[in-house]
Amino acid sequence: MARRKIVAGNWKMNKTPSETVQFLKELKPLVETDEADVILCVPSISIMAAMKETEGSNINIGAQCMYFEEKGAYTGEISPVMLEDAGVKYVIIGHSERRQYFAVTDEIVNKKTLKAFEHNIVPIICVGESLTQREQGITIEYIRQQVKIAFLGVSAEQAKRAVIAYEPIWAIGTGKVATTAQAEEVCKAIRDCIAELYDCDTAEAIRILYGGSVTVSSAPELFAEPDIDGGLVGGASLVPDFGKIVHYNK
Ligand code: PGA
Repeated sequence: MARRKIVAGNWKMNKTPSETVQFLKELKPLVETDEADVILCVPSISIMAAMKETEGSNINIGAQCMYFEEKGAYTGEISPVMLEDAGVKYVIIGHSERRQYFAVTDEIVNKKTLKAFEHNIVPIICVGESLTQREQGITIEYIRQQVKIAFLGVSAEQAKRAVIAYEPIWAIGTGKVATTAQAEEVCKAIRDCIAELYDCDTAEAIRILYGGSVTVSSAPELFAEPDIDGGLVGGASLVPDFGKIVHYNK
């Protein structure tokens, strides 16, 4: 069975709660489709307003981060229990910006991944190499290590539902999109790694996205690759053009 595409937006630290509601009103008709899962990961403070505004639409609201404990003295964090109670079905885990600025490690990514599954939230696990690592020729080894650690203790049934986003750090927010061949090479290597860790069925089921300066013009070619099941879109998810990325094949 063909894997269903995902077009996910990562708003990062953009849009206030009122801007969120206003923008979603505009975006809803533009992203209507039966052909892909549409996800928008909005800032935590806007999750509730966004859930309400998108009720009855095909937009799924996701979170951009989550802690790995359920409750307690962790000032400022948001817990999987809170996300579950709010009805959130997706959470981005291990985005390179969280790794870079907020000290998220592969071990933490693993803990969060396990917790997300415990609470029926699908993790969108981000992996990606720096420019230095690419130049050193260690991209595939590095990504395989990130994937292997993220999936420690994750069952095959869970892994089938997981989403992995390959986001080369040098392509994020830089306007420098990876070539289709570079993106496909790594996404295929990730799928092969999942096949080694689990089995072919799991590798065939898991959805792998490309992220890093995806635009209306680059999406069709990227998403047509056999191992790229859609995209995680930053900058271009903040504007109505996101609708055109959702309809990339039209
Ligand atoms: P970008 O961000 O599309 O703005 O490069 C992608 C991401 O970081 O998820």
